[in-house]
Amino acid sequence: MFHLLLSLMTITLVGCNNENKILTFPDGFLIGAASSAYQVEGAWNVDDKGISNWDHFVHHNPERIVDGSNADVTTDSYHRHEEDVNILSDLGVDHYRFSMSWSRILPKGHSGYVSKSALRYYHSLLDELDAKGIIPFVTIYHWDHPQSLEEAGGWLNDNMPQWFEDYARVIFQNFAHRVKYFVTLNELNIYCTMAYRRAEHPPAIKLNGTGDYQCLHNQLKAHALAYHVYDEEFRKEFNGQLGITTLCFGHFSKDTIDLASEDLAYEFECGWPSHPIFSETGDYPEVMKKQVALRSKAQGYKTSRLPVFSEDWVARIKGTSDFFGLNYYSSRIVKRLSTSSRINWPNDEGLEYTMDPKWVSAQRTKNNIQSKVILQLILKVVPEGLGKVLRKIREKYNNPTVYITENGVSSSSGKNDDERINYLRSHLKVILSAVNDGCNIKGYTYWSLLDSYEWEAGFTAQFGLMHVDFNDANRTRTPKKSVHWLKNVISTRKLFL
Ligand code: NOJ
Repeated sequence: MFHLLLSLMTITLVGCNNENKILTFPDGFLIGAASSAYQVEGAWNVDDKGISNWDHFVHHNPERIVDGSNADVTTDSYHRHEEDVNILSDLGVDHYRFSMSWSRILPKGHSGYVSKSALRYYHSLLDELDAKGIIPFVTIYHWDHPQSLEEAGGWLNDNMPQWFEDYARVIFQNFAHRVKYFVTLNELNIYCTMAYRRAEHPPAIKLNGTGDYQCLHNQLKAHALAYHVYDEEFRKEFNGQLGITTLCFGHFSKDTIDLASEDLAYEFECGWPSHPIFSETGDYPEVMKKQVALRSKAQGYKTSRLPVFSEDWVARIKGTSDFFGLNYYSSRIVKRLSTSSRINWPNDEGLEYTMDPKWVSAQRTKNNIQSKVILQLILKVVPEGLGKVLRKIREKYNNPTVYITENGVSSSSGKNDDERINYLRSHLKVILSAVNDGCNIKGYTYWSLLDSYEWEAGFTAQFGLMHVDFNDANRTRTPKKSVHWLKNVISTRKLFL
């Protein structure tokens, strides 16, 4: 009740009809923009940088990328970071979320050799942010790791958590005095799904129902190890915050309301990495443990395909986050599959996912491959799904602090991106209404600052506020219409509906 009253005081509604409403952001609410190392840095072999899993994958398998491209240069932010920071400053953001590249910092994969030029690069980026008063939000791992570690098995190797801990310690040793917000891992559920279930990201091995689970199991351990390193060796002196970022879709049942299926979909996707960290009991969601065990048994496995945490690991992982980093893009319709159609069905939750034809797509697709890759995942504009996810997080994990670490849309209309403005407006509205409902949301990060390299979609899906001319050697950045719109929101701290 207190929450409710407090937020009613901070969110002011002016005007008497929907068209003229103005919502105000609460004091201290951070608004920023994001990027990630592989998607923007380029300079893939500059100085002593090592080869990453993504460098290797795109160079050897260009046919797996929609337009056959790679991120060798992409927006060239390694050389143009000063310009990027000026853009951020002009936009007026409170924070900038970016990631550090593991293979740039540890070119040999292990912490015995730390690249001086990598440290210099990130320090100069931090100096520029500092000079403009922009808070750095650093992601330690956004999907790119040294290829040498990939060859050792990557996230299926049980030593990977230890290697990640070593890497995270190097980051803390060098940057904890000037970075107060760290995200350990980005979207572990999507990383493991894309790498081992859908096999569209490196190492692109189809190990559906085994590799995906093992991958996330190791990423959770890696996250917890890094959290404890920070807690034990750095927190007292630097007093920063460490979180983890998960992608959650909104799930809606159709025709008849089926809350159990909606919840099942939530637990298998968002609860999978979140329950072990944020719930009171820790460990994977009960329903997930039960369902995977049953299906594994029916398929002839001696033990569940979902790996089991020892009691010690359950305890070590539980509570290891100072905030919930939420990435939200879109939603899906869920429907329970009949038992017979589930026998050989790869998904353990036994649900079918579709889109509501009434949902709007922001990007008009130019070819079929693109629509297959992109539309399936992200393009339907469903702001109410975000509200649903935010309330689930509040209810399930005792209202943790939430930073929205990504939210955004790709569009095909170039610089005149009205659909991005509509997307932003409708999602920010939902966020402010969730704050009004007592959800503990402390910040919003638009994905992304610049048009950049969109993984398997190459340069065919552009989420940027800034247009980047990839045919120009200078990678000229030009503001889209949404830049002016967002700038006004940030400077007034008001959302005009
Ligand atoms: C999530 C990922 O973190 C980011 O790298 C990606 O570009 C966006 N989603 C858009 O797909």
